[in-house]
Amino acid sequence: MGLFFAAVAVAACGGTYPQSALDPSSDFAGRLDGLFMQIFWWAVGVFVLVEGVLLYTVFRWREDPARGRPPEVHGHVLMEIGWTVIPALILVAIAIPTIRTIFLVDRPTADPDALVVEVTGRQWWWEFTYPELGITTANEMHIPLGRTVDLRLRSADVIHSFWVPRLGGKRDVVPGRENQLWFRPDSVGVFWGQCAEYCGTAHALMGLRVLVDAPADFEAWVTTNRSNAARPADSEARAGQGVFMANACVSCHEIRGTGARGQLGPDLTHVGSRLTIGAGLLDNNLENLIRWIDSTQVVKPGTLMPEVDLTESQIQQLAAYLLGLR
Ligand code: CUA
Repeated sequence: MGLFFAAVAVAACGGTYPQSALDPSSDFAGRLDGLFMQIFWWAVGVFVLVEGVLLYTVFRWREDPARGRPPEVHGHVLMEIGWTVIPALILVAIAIPTIRTIFLVDRPTADPDALVVEVTGRQWWWEFTYPELGITTANEMHIPLGRTVDLRLRSADVIHSFWVPRLGGKRDVVPGRENQLWFRPDSVGVFWGQCAEYCGTAHALMGLRVLVDAPADFEAWVTTNRSNAARPADSEARAGQGVFMANACVSCHEIRGTGARGQLGPDLTHVGSRLTIGAGLLDNNLENLIRWIDSTQVVKPGTLMPEVDLTESQIQQLAAYLLGLR
């Protein structure tokens, strides 16, 4: 029990646990956490009361030859009514805020200024499209602080579940229908998320990040991400672009402003500016990009990206090119 309380206390402090629902950072997650804490304290109250009466009884009425047996109670009307009515009232007290919260978070957002983001679950990564901004990106969703986001969740293949514990509750992403989820973040930061519904081999490696930016930073991100891809900055990156365009990469990925128009994999127009690659799997740097291209199936078993037959220097050039796409 002590261990449990210690775990709850540590988890509630966040930091070490980036995916803790006990450290809410949006109105939606705050409501869920408030509800959880309310039920938690009811449970603590019941536990203390029941265990208290039990312990009192055990010690007060322990066997005492001098006293003999205590009188036995059968069919005590007041007690029968008490232990029926009190739990029923507690359940009502829990049901009212629970049902209210369920209805509240299940409704579409009433905020007319909400930023719509279309979220598409794919084996095994996330696509984010901002219809009003003309931006498509993958695995990292930027949103502005202080504005409600209105997520429209769809699947391109099987059932996934979008879950960013510090911002909102789990919501299934189901082929053939659109589910909604909204929240208004209340602090700037990087929030971790994870697909929460088994969706095949790489399900556990289908992560994501939500980056809540200050409004000015968000505007800067929008400006950058609306533009076409940067031109390769040096000969290495230029060679890398050649490798990309001459191989299978080009048939699955889009790099706006180039001939690459593939739609099966993540849009790579600004991949160099992302924090991670492989759907939240690896930090985005030269070393990891090389590792990713070289041994994709080892880094993320099952991923639909094939290992392309390239020389070591071609992989180096390709990684330099991708990292330069900021
Ligand atoms: Cu997608 Cu699990």
